[in-house]
Amino acid sequence: MEYKLRKAEPKDVPDILRLVKELAKYEDMEHQVALTEKDLLEDGFGETPFYHCIIAEIQGEKSSEDPNVVGFAMYYFTYDPWVGKQLYLEEFYVMDKCRGLGIGSEILRHLSDLAMKTRCTGMMFVVAENNEPSVQFYKRRGAEDLSEEEGWRLFRFDKTSLAKMATPAEE
Ligand code: COA
Repeated sequence: MEYKLRKAEPKDVPDILRLVKELAKYEDMEHQVALTEKDLLEDGFGETPFYHCIIAEIQGEKSSEDPNVVGFAMYYFTYDPWVGKQLYLEEFYVMDKCRGLGIGSEILRHLSDLAMKTRCTGMMFVVAENNEPSVQFYKRRGAEDLSEEEGWRLFRFDKTSLAKMATPAEE
């Protein structure tokens, strides 16, 4: 199966949301996806993009058909005060029917090239504890499990906690 990687464009937003939902379903957290196409469009393709995506597509059966988007990676840049620029891999998904064809490895190659070009010192990501196939996929490629090796724990202030700490809105 021939596939192609390219940068996401605004027209890809419906496919990005479809794949975000598929990955959330795979992780049994489908109900937590609150984002809309409008949010994704504004946040990824406005003046200050908050995320970037690489899209994997395959040509449909007929050459007249539009290619089908079958996988993607969502990423952005973060900064580590000890070692500098980092690439943060936020989402990584290839549709079931297209797994095992090398698309995921090619996406990682693309992101590694980008990380080297932009002088990042690493690529960070979070994996659900029960997603053992992906844990092994990453470990086979040399990823370190920082929770295990360094004892980091993942925290979040949700919107309610933020609102409590924030300056109260004026009446
Ligand atoms: N499904 C999954 N993996 C398969 C497979 C199949 N049907 N058939 C073979 N594999 C093996 C491949 O041999 C390869 O092994 P390797 O690590 O020794 O190279 C590996 O699994 C898949 O490699 P590749 O084809 O390059 O990646 P992919 O296109 O299958 O994409 C993922 C990898 C992780 C993106 C994809 O499996 C996926 O979307 N998984 C579900 C979602 C997920 O867990 N995402 C990551 C969240 S942190």
